[in-house]
Amino acid sequence: MAKFHIEGGHKLSGTVTPSGNKNEALPTLMACLLTDDPVTYRRMPKIGDVVTTCDVLADLGVDVTWQADDVLTLCARNAKYKKPNPDLCAKIRASILLLGPMLARFGRVELALPGGDVIGARRIDTHWEGIEALGGTLKLNQSIVGEIKTIKGTDVYLDEPSVTGTENLLLLAVKCQGTAILHNAACEPHVVGLCNLLNAMGAKISGIGSNRLVIEGVKTLKGATHTIGPDFMEVGSFLCLGSMAGGKVTIKDTRPEDMGFVLKTLARLGIVPTIDGLHMTVDGSKPLVMKKDIGGRIGTIYSGPWPAYPTDLMSVAIVAATQSLGTTIFFEKMFEGRMFFTDKLMQMGANIVLCDPHRIVVNGASKLFAARMSSPDVRAGMSLIMAALVAEGTSVIDNIYQVERGYFNIENKLKQLGAKITRED
Ligand code: EPU
Repeated sequence: MAKFHIEGGHKLSGTVTPSGNKNEALPTLMACLLTDDPVTYRRMPKIGDVVTTCDVLADLGVDVTWQADDVLTLCARNAKYKKPNPDLCAKIRASILLLGPMLARFGRVELALPGGDVIGARRIDTHWEGIEALGGTLKLNQSIVGEIKTIKGTDVYLDEPSVTGTENLLLLAVKCQGTAILHNAACEPHVVGLCNLLNAMGAKISGIGSNRLVIEGVKTLKGATHTIGPDFMEVGSFLCLGSMAGGKVTIKDTRPEDMGFVLKTLARLGIVPTIDGLHMTVDGSKPLVMKKDIGGRIGTIYSGPWPAYPTDLMSVAIVAATQSLGTTIFFEKMFEGRMFFTDKLMQMGANIVLCDPHRIVVNGASKLFAARMSSPDVRAGMSLIMAALVAEGTSVIDNIYQVERGYFNIENKLKQLGAKITRED
């Protein structure tokens, strides 16, 4: 199993450019099934989850061509109905995103339950109820078995603003008869990206960016070219890392307009980048100090559906909090397994109290020391790398495939900033 050796305590400075957003890449790849024409993607990150998704699609007969390192063309003209490969589906959460487009294209689907990060219950009721509202029938045996005769244009009330749930319903409803309205839809930048691609393919979606998406059904969709947005999880990770690592780090080609709530939340930890157009710079030589609530009370950082602070950026903020002077409560409202990695930070010297599966208290700033660790999921893995980079001594992080599933070329990006990191296969 591949691992990173990281010699911590070196100043990091320089420039880094984020890759494309994983969570936009995955649903937009599935959209290729809605047309026989080629769909071309720019800024497509060649990360583990994308490669596995391409393998699943290729197994269905989709033609997969990498035109350049980050330019991919998919063409589903020769796609044939079959059960998607269960072993591949079990590797990624995003395989659940085949439900909508397979029902839209073939009128039926049989899909193994998805895999992916083990960070909580990860219910699929929102997908299920929405597909049934649009006229589908679904059964759960070992797999999900579904069919749909007519995709009904109707009002769909999502149980919760599930990201992949909204994406699945969009990928089905674009071909509905009449008009479908998704209420309580997710509105993350990756959902916006998917809507924009679908509209470029000929769909008629309005309300994009809001939690009420109106979809006038169309009969056919055509090919398109789409540029994936910069990964704001990666931007957020580098903002946190750069703020703790002694030097100046500039993150190029970000989308500051997507990051309002992220920046407001990170400011609570003392992380305040200077923004110059699309570029953000943090100065890690300035000590981080946590902001207190009015009256000097201990503040809380909590995650929530967009536009609230994203759950995927909780773990990197927790590492930053270990290096920020003061006390903060972190309240992870969404996943019940995401906080457990903090035992590894405690092992490194962080002063953290794990109150329950959803809440921790971090008391900073603590000196961190190297440790041997294993990456439990993609975001926690990145956080452990960051902790190792600011710790004294050499850490070893096993199971880094978890990180590489979501962060493209992370070793080289860190090396560019001066990190002493080596990969052992
Ligand atoms: N949830 C709430 N309240 C809500 C909405 C959701 O508690 O209002 C809970 C759900 O019950 C669920 C969890 O939050 O347990 C996540 O819900 P969702 O269905 O939105 O998650 P998902 O669609 O399965 C996607 C991303 C995840 C990301 C979540 C939340 C993809 C492929 N995955 O998952 O990404 O954490 O949305 O933003 O898009 C990652 O990139 O590391 C990752 C896990």
